Amino acid sequence: MPIYLDNAATSFPKPSQVIEAVEKTLRLNAANPGRGGHQLSLQAGRLVMECRETMARFFGVDDSTRIAFTANATEAINLGLFGVLQPGDRVVTTSMEHNAVVRPLRALSDRGVEVVRVMADTQGFVNPVAIPKACIPGTRLLMVNHCSNVTGTLQAIEEIGPWCRKQGIIFMVDAAQSAGIFSIDVEEMAIDLLAVPGHKSLFGPPGTGFLYVRPGLDLQPLLYGGTGNFSQSATQPVEMPERLESGTLNTIGLAGLKAGVEFLEACGLEHVRNHERELLHQLINGLTGLDGVVLYGPLGSAQHGGALSFNIKNMDPALLGFRLDREYGICCRVGLHCAPEAHGSIGTLPEGTVRLSPGYFNTADDIEQALSAIRAISQ
Ligand code: ALA
Repeated sequence: MPIYLDNAATSFPKPSQVIEAVEKTLRLNAANPGRGGHQLSLQAGRLVMECRETMARFFGVDDSTRIAFTANATEAINLGLFGVLQPGDRVVTTSMEHNAVVRPLRALSDRGVEVVRVMADTQGFVNPVAIPKACIPGTRLLMVNHCSNVTGTLQAIEEIGPWCRKQGIIFMVDAAQSAGIFSIDVEEMAIDLLAVPGHKSLFGPPGTGFLYVRPGLDLQPLLYGGTGNFSQSATQPVEMPERLESGTLNTIGLAGLKAGVEFLEACGLEHVRNHERELLHQLINGLTGLDGVVLYGPLGSAQHGGALSFNIKNMDPALLGFRLDREYGICCRVGLHCAPEAHGSIGTLPEGTVRLSPGYFNTADDIEQALSAIRAISQ
């Protein structure tokens, strides 16, 4: 069995509770939610509502109708950015963003939105003082990557959010790598828009995710269509979540997502984080001092979650990743990780890095095997 160290791409394996919830729903309860008055449709609708409430509880959301389900974090980010920004608006963002942010913002800049970047340092940190400086009057939205998929660097959103709220700037957070690793409370952190994938550290199946939208903030939909309500009207309903959720929802995936978050709640976020942190420390300790190995990011500090990037001097990371997979059965991700600007910040363009991202189901033995393989290759 290969050793999977690519949990930043998607978590694997999934808890058995998630697999059972998906299977049970597919077998017994896969009717279309909100599209009929019959018992199976109502049951499916209840399941979707319970998933929404589970997400609301986990992220400190008071009103679960402000959560719009999407297929992934990328869709949630597009929904937030295109839903809010208009030609002439000004948006501030960071150099640690994933292409899920970089590309929509590029498309919006082609339509007349001004996009300003705050540069991160070589560990991937954005100086919180640099953000207020960049957010000059007239800034409409600040978009921040919470935890980097390249270096695992965590930004201080709990400081940035309340500042934005005072300034009247919409604060949007990409939680693709932090949701399920670090505690996120949208009220305490004053987050207006939160984009979350279901399939990473929340343990849900692929095809799940959501956007949280702060009450009072109205978004233009990305998709228009059937919502199961107000069917007589040709205009999209204004009510949430239907306004942002056209078409049949992924009930089966959402059953799995609910089970994933319940699993996380039962384990305790801190317990999960501590286990992953121990594995990261083991990796960092094992790689530090190895001849020719260069490590990137905040290296095991409290502001480091999820992923560790490294290189072996004079070796293409693509070749290293290939050898780890083919010769040692270690699965990891190499290259630019869809985040070229983040690699620009840490100085690893154009080749990128090798990224190891342990998850809850990895063991100390997995890490030891990965370290032995890297030692052998580096010699
Ligand atoms: N964004 C995911 C990653 O970093 C897919 O691998």
